[in-house]
Amino acid sequence: MNKYVINGGKPLSGRVDISGAKNAAVAILPAALLVEGICRIDNIPNISDVNLWLSILQYMGARIKRLGDTEVEIDSTDIRRVAPPYDLMRKMRASYYLVGAMLGRFGWAEAGMPGGCDFGERPIDQHIKGFRALGAKVEVRNGAIHAVTENGIRSGHVFFDKRTVGATINVMIAAACAPGQTVIENANKEPHIVDVANFLNSMGADIRGAGTDLIKIRGRKLHGGSYSIIPDQIEAGTFIAAVAATGGDVIINNIIPKHLECITTKFAEIGVDISEGDEYIRVSRPADRKLRPTHVTALPYPGYPTDMQPQIASCLCLANGTSFLTDGVYENRFRYVDELRRMGADITVDGKTAVIRSVKELTGAPISACDLRAGVAMIIAGLSAKGRTEIDGIEHIERGYQDIVSKFRSIGADISIVEYPDGSEVSAVV
Ligand code: EPU
Repeated sequence: MNKYVINGGKPLSGRVDISGAKNAAVAILPAALLVEGICRIDNIPNISDVNLWLSILQYMGARIKRLGDTEVEIDSTDIRRVAPPYDLMRKMRASYYLVGAMLGRFGWAEAGMPGGCDFGERPIDQHIKGFRALGAKVEVRNGAIHAVTENGIRSGHVFFDKRTVGATINVMIAAACAPGQTVIENANKEPHIVDVANFLNSMGADIRGAGTDLIKIRGRKLHGGSYSIIPDQIEAGTFIAAVAATGGDVIINNIIPKHLECITTKFAEIGVDISEGDEYIRVSRPADRKLRPTHVTALPYPGYPTDMQPQIASCLCLANGTSFLTDGVYENRFRYVDELRRMGADITVDGKTAVIRSVKELTGAPISACDLRAGVAMIIAGLSAKGRTEIDGIEHIERGYQDIVSKFRSIGADISIVEYPDGSEVSAVV
């Protein structure tokens, strides 16, 4: 088993480059199934969720060519109408996009129910509602989603009952080639939703309004092309939070500053200095300036992102007073709080709100990454804590962050990956 080992208490400084957006990549890769031709996709993050998608597409008959660390060519011309192995599908949340893509391509889909991080109940009723509006009969049985149509998917009108990123993207994918016009109302507006629409449009689709709550899709046959994925808003936000927690001065490069405003405004409010360039931001906090406490509510874009909720919690443990952190998206995204308590944090959770009282310091401890964003919140806590922190469960982090350890090391963090043969002492640093 590998763990991250951190010796905390050092400010961060230097420059870090942000990778392509995970949550765009995990939708764009299955969407490439709709294209009867070659899609060349660049700025793909090199993370385990992306590798899982490439294995699934390959299993289905796509020809995959890696053109480098962050570029891939996918040829779905000879894709087969098969359900991928259940074990592959349940490893990630984004597997639900395969249903939209297969429905769009074959008018039929069978896919294992999605896995992903455990934040309480995560139903997919809005995805199913959307597919039904496009003429599919959908059932969940034996752990899988089964969807069939009479003669292929058709256009339709979908009004979502709640705000959902995944169902907005899934219906866009399913309808991209459906004859006629599909309308999605009450759609989400996240940058990666716009990115998926831009990808499909660059392959010949006609999707308008992505980034607003009304999306219109006129079905078109898609052709091959090239596309570059946007930078990862949440990875950039994670580095902002790390500098907020440790102090220091870091340039966060290869980003779209506009996508970060929902995050930077909050960190500026709590006392972090942020200035903006064309494709970078500079983030700093002097060592002698304490963070100010705040109230944060995580909401769909352009609200403060739920995927940045655990990271700001780690920062607020050391703020100058009591903060209130509410998650307005998930019913239970606070499982990580127990781990922060091991480090001396004073946090109580009441329903969807965490009350974070300031403590003088956090102290290093053995802790676990219970999911992806909670995992990086543990890194942030470890970097700002006094002493040594050991984090296990790092496979959760590596699902979504490319080269996280080397990126932190490049800005001065004392973090390494240490291999622990099961049940024994440290054997090697890798
Ligand atoms: N929901 C329903 N019914 C549905 C769909 C969603 O009730 O059919 C509920 C969910 O249970 C949740 C809320 O609506 O309470 C929002 O869910 P949403 O559909 O927006 O989330 P998701 O598609 O499951 C994606 C990201 C998450 C990110 C959320 C919110 C992927 C693969 N996952 O999940 O990313 O938290 O949007 O922005 O894109 C992460 O990256 O760490 C992560 C968890």
